[in-house]
Amino acid sequence: MNSQVISLYKKRRSQYALGKQLPISQEDTTQLIKHAMREAPSAFNAQSSRALILFGDHSQKFWELTKEELRKIVPAEGFAATEAKLNSFAAGAGTVLYFVDTDVVKGLQEQFALYADNFPVWAEQSNGMAQFAVWTALADAGVGASLQHYNPLVDEMVRKHWGVSGNWQLRAQMPFGSNEAAPGEKTFMEDEARFKVFG
Ligand SMILES: Cc1cc2nc3c(=O)[nH]c(=O)nc-3n(C[C@H](O)[C@H](O)[C@H](O)COP(=O)(O)O)c2cc1C
Repeated sequence: MNSQVISLYKKRRSQYALGKQLPISQEDTTQLIKHAMREAPSAFNAQSSRALILFGDHSQKFWELTKEELRKIVPAEGFAATEAKLNSFAAGAGTVLYFVDTDVVKGLQEQFALYADNFPVWAEQSNGMAQFAVWTALADAGVGASLQHYNPLVDEMVRKHWGVSGNWQLRAQMPFGSNEAAPGEKTFMEDEARFKVFG
């Protein structure tokens, strides 16, 4: 069956070869990210996901400061590889930092005590959906991206440098930019091992 949306899902890949020349304007990129997150579902429609959208120098600064944090913990002899990886993210046009607003989670836990244990999990799932929505929307616009996780190592640095409040808990980082190479091969497991269909 032909499906436009599945074609779009296929188009979304992890792009590690990023450049600075976006095929759309910064304003349009911002709007795309905002709209994608707005339309992503969340448990109880709590809208617990937050984002810091960093362009240009701000994105580069984020990866520079991340490098400094990693330098403190990565053995010197292995740092060249780490540095090269971070430089490839900094080579992009921007980075989206995804957060969960823990105040929203706490509020829901108080309001609906019966589901208290579920709310942090649902906030994570909702954040993942927001990430997927943005990643796919960017891919549709010809913008490449990947998903990274340098939290919690960089949390304090992000709070200090961009004045992010303590209730915004960093969950993922998405460097994005122009597609400078074809994405790598992707393998898929057999459907038989993955799905059970009845009826
Ligand atoms: C929850 C989640 C966490 C991920 N974490 C990372 C990560 O920390 N670094 C990274 O390079 N890719 C990360 N990825 C990307 C996956 O490795 C990638 O999506 C997967 O290999 C399939 O490739 P594709 O994105 O090209 O379809 C993550 C993906 C998901 C869904």
